[in-house]
Amino acid sequence: MTRGRVLVVDDKENMVRLFAKILGDDYELCTAAEGGRALALIAAQEFDVVVTDLKMPGADGFAVLRAAKSRSPDTEVIMMTAYASVQDAVLAMKQGAYDYLQKPFDPDAALLVVARALERKRLKEQAASLRQQLHGVYALHKLVGKSPAMQNVFRLLEQAAALDITVLLTGATGTGKELAARAIHHQSSRRNGPFVPVNCGALPAELMESELFGHARGAFTGATQAKAGLFEAAASGTLFLDEVGELPLQVQVKLNRALQEREVRRVGDNEPVKVNVRLIAATHRDLKAETKTGQFRDDLYYRLHVFPVKLPTLLERRDDIPLLAAHFLEKHAHSFGRTLTGLTPEALRVLTGYAWPGNVRELEHAIERGVAVASGPQLTAHDLPPELQDNQEGSLPVEVLVKLPYREVLTTARDRVSRDYLVALLREFQGNVTHAAARAGVERESLHRLLKRYGVRSDDFKPTSPT
Ligand SMILES: Nc1ncnc2c1ncn2[C@@H]1O[C@H](COP(=O)(O)OP(=O)(O)OP(=O)(O)O)[C@@H](O)[C@H]1O
Ligand SMILES: [Mg+2]
Repeated sequence: MTRGRVLVVDDKENMVRLFAKILGDDYELCTAAEGGRALALIAAQEFDVVVTDLKMPGADGFAVLRAAKSRSPDTEVIMMTAYASVQDAVLAMKQGAYDYLQKPFDPDAALLVVARALERKRLKEQAASLRQQLHGVYALHKLVGKSPAMQNVFRLLEQAAALDITVLLTGATGTGKELAARAIHHQSSRRNGPFVPVNCGALPAELMESELFGHARGAFTGATQAKAGLFEAAASGTLFLDEVGELPLQVQVKLNRALQEREVRRVGDNEPVKVNVRLIAATHRDLKAETKTGQFRDDLYYRLHVFPVKLPTLLERRDDIPLLAAHFLEKHAHSFGRTLTGLTPEALRVLTGYAWPGNVRELEHAIERGVAVASGPQLTAHDLPPELQDNQEGSLPVEVLVKLPYREVLTTARDRVSRDYLVALLREFQGNVTHAAARAGVERESLHRLLKRYGVRSDDFKPTSPT
């Protein structure tokens, strides 16, 4: 590890010499005899720790502090001060100084304060690089996930982005299809072009047709002006056809032709217009099956099914729940202007034990709501929506269970049964722990421990006294 780089600022020669002696060869020492010189050094290079006198002629310790912090917020600043100006030192700490040394000080104490400041600076750097890693490795654009299933999706999306081909995104509701489409666009060479999303189920056939392909002036009543469609609007960018399975059959025909010929005809106009768009389509339906029943055109299906990517359900990637929960906690705490340090273990247990029929969207809403109602420093199980708490359908379906190790299946089952039991028990005894413990055949203390472990609060079951 490189030596810590320390700047000592003092107008007294003996003070500078003292630090040279204390810090010895373990640190790389720079010195400045006055504030102006210190500001120049700080502008030229980043220091790990700055030790500065508070009262100096010219630029004082506050100016040095501000300069060091604006150069790098991670730099730690220590103030030296005489007894008379301890108030000022405290003020400096409020402005971001790490600590202060009151003159005259013991050399060992000074060494200790510098060493601690350096350690703190290094920890902050480490945390920042971890955060960066997390965001770099476990995210693609705004998609988050570290499970093998999601890492595989990231790989596919990156390939698709590089290839400029038609992509078909499938997956249940709330699995992130739209976000994936945006990620492809963002990673592709078209990123500076427009990303145009279209909800294919939103309009009746006639309107949808002119929406997508545009219309000529006078093409129909009300068409007082010629209008370009969304295909043309997406030129040199990406057109995202969301819910493509909802597209009326007559529009499917036109879409197929547009894709085949790479040109569109505005409604009421015979002149074709060349279009340069990349198409991404998404559906939660089984289009292949719908081609058999005639609801979706065969030819269009094959044209869209060039590079299919299936987004896994949240249950298929339960390992991602803690990461996603932390991600949404950070996102919404920020937007609510709140500081929450994380989720309690019990809250995480509730989240990982739920079936998530609405997938990531439902998880995000649950966390958002939790952030809004949370009163403590952490998000607790009680802050989560009630349907997660005693949810009977929440027991994991067999298809999911078979994917888990036996031990985890047992733990999951035991946790669920224990929790249901404790809730039922307290309900029966209206929150009276002594009676509940007698029925359960355990000591009161053991029952308290269990309640704590499973996040069940006896108070919640006590009859509310009239106020
Ligand atoms: N992997 C992920 N990481 C972070 N956020 C995600 C992820 N997947 C989905 N989301 C978030 O979940 C919500 C739903 O995602 P999105 O709208 O992309 O889903 P969808 O598959 O298009 O759903 P639907 O079929 O219902 O339209 C959005 O708020 C999105 O930001
Ligand atoms: Mg969607």
